[in-house]
Amino acid sequence: MEETRSTFKGKLGFVLAAAGSAVGLGNLWRFPYLAAKYGGGMFLLVYIILAVTFGFVLMITEISIGRKTQLSPLKAFGALHKKWNWLGALATVVPLLIFPYYCLIGGWVTKYAGVMLIGQVKQAAQDDYFGNYISSTADPIMWFLIFIIATTLVIVFGVNNGIEKLSRVLMPALLILTVGLSIYVVTRPGASQGIKYYLLPNIKDLSIKTFLAALGQLFYSMSLAMGIMITYGSYFSKEEHIEKATRQIEVFDTAIAFLAGLMIIPSVFVFSGGDKEALGKGPSLMFVTLPKVFNSMPGGRIIGSAFFILVLFAAITSSVSIMEAIVSGIIDAFKISRNRATVLVAVFGILVGIACSLGFGIWSSVKLFGFDILDFLDFISNSVLLPFVGMMTCIVVGFVIKPDAIISEVELNGEFTMKKFYYAMVKWIAPIFIFAILISSILEGIGLLKI
Ligand code: TRP
Repeated sequence: MEETRSTFKGKLGFVLAAAGSAVGLGNLWRFPYLAAKYGGGMFLLVYIILAVTFGFVLMITEISIGRKTQLSPLKAFGALHKKWNWLGALATVVPLLIFPYYCLIGGWVTKYAGVMLIGQVKQAAQDDYFGNYISSTADPIMWFLIFIIATTLVIVFGVNNGIEKLSRVLMPALLILTVGLSIYVVTRPGASQGIKYYLLPNIKDLSIKTFLAALGQLFYSMSLAMGIMITYGSYFSKEEHIEKATRQIEVFDTAIAFLAGLMIIPSVFVFSGGDKEALGKGPSLMFVTLPKVFNSMPGGRIIGSAFFILVLFAAITSSVSIMEAIVSGIIDAFKISRNRATVLVAVFGILVGIACSLGFGIWSSVKLFGFDILDFLDFISNSVLLPFVGMMTCIVVGFVIKPDAIISEVELNGEFTMKKFYYAMVKWIAPIFIFAILISSILEGIGLLKI
């Protein structure tokens, strides 16, 4: 059943589709809490520097590999060189680890949309509301099931097309609401300290951990090093210029993450003081601070509902594409039917997701290397596997197929303006740098190195 590969209509279609997959909980939920935890301005600075260097190089590489081979990631690396098949397989494992907990967070968002809609803004703004919620047993699992089943239904009925169209309307709405909310937050009394913390880098906050966290976040947020951009690249028309499209996706994704930080970090200062504990809240940050913002504003119930519904939407479009990536990978690898693959992935996601949820409650004594279950999956996928796959991708391009293979693909239509930079980055700077970060963070993790 070989079908001819469909291509996106023009560059705008491609950029929107890729950005739609990239923009999700990574930007709205994960970026702000990492920035709050790892030194605000310093994290932002490191992130942006990494985005325009490493992010740029990897995204252009993956899109080019996809367009060149016209294959899914599972086969693309093998087609470049048969000894490198495993890298495509490894890249496909990452979404599998992300999917269950992504849906769990999606469930939290669904719950908050519900809570805002029924007008319990005040309760949600209470300090221990969120903690009590995630540590309970049935409630978070129920919302998680709603989210993951909705995702599965989209995959089964393939309303993808409809979702795609809807997201062209709802994504801009999300952007407008985020801009509006950040303006509201930064004009509150007491916000200026938070703005300073977020925008002004302090050299004291610089550590290897900042780099590792920023690098993992970069890959996660731009869906890099997990085969997604290879898949998208295989749909990208040969008529279009990859370099320009890459820039646009990057700017879009980073702008949304930046705004989410601007909305959430100053509100930590306004509503919870700016102390270390409030800033280091981690995965719960968005759910703890935003309800306080909504509770303090006129019309907070309506704005809060609208906000969480739009975030829910961004989350669903991403969870659908994560699931689709796994399902098509499994079909390619094991030659089973689409329905069977979908059910397998859904069951796997439900079991692991429930474990993640219980990890905050009755299983909270279960620690994997000192992490909660969710944090552990997040750490392994984003801080270990993504940098590793990214590094290996650079090595394949730098030494096996050679950078010229990518450069000529980019130059099929127009000049590759950053050619020299690309060459140096992909062959030497990126792999060595990623290697150094990975090794030092592993050494630190097992206690052999103190940074
Ligand atoms: N980049 C998405 C976000 O920022 C999350 C994500 C991770 C993703 N892996 C993916 C999206 C794979 C689509 C496909 O939330």
